[in-house]
Amino acid sequence: MFKPLDGSTPVELVDIQVDGATARVAKGRTLAIALLEAGHSITRRNHHAEPCAPFCLMGVCFECLVHLDGQSNVQACLVRAEAGMRVRLPQGGAAPIGDA
Ligand code: FES
Repeated sequence: MFKPLDGSTPVELVDIQVDGATARVAKGRTLAIALLEAGHSITRRNHHAEPCAPFCLMGVCFECLVHLDGQSNVQACLVRAEAGMRVRLPQGGAAPIGDA
């Protein structure tokens, strides 16, 4: 679905957990991009349970909020993908605190 415009291939792939399933992503890409590349285009749902996806990819829109390693409401576009990350995609409403 998504690929680098310059055609480059990632130097290193790492495994992260997304809702309990393993996803192999490029180390060092932003987590938002890694999730999109792994096929997770919906990162959260708003308070009307409508799907939201990363939009600005630069920390402005807050559409990329995820639970990351026990921390709620992390902007996935502002952190780099690393091996062993545990991501939970909120399924609706505001993300509960400390529920990853
Ligand atoms: S995609 Fe807009 S803040 Fe992360």
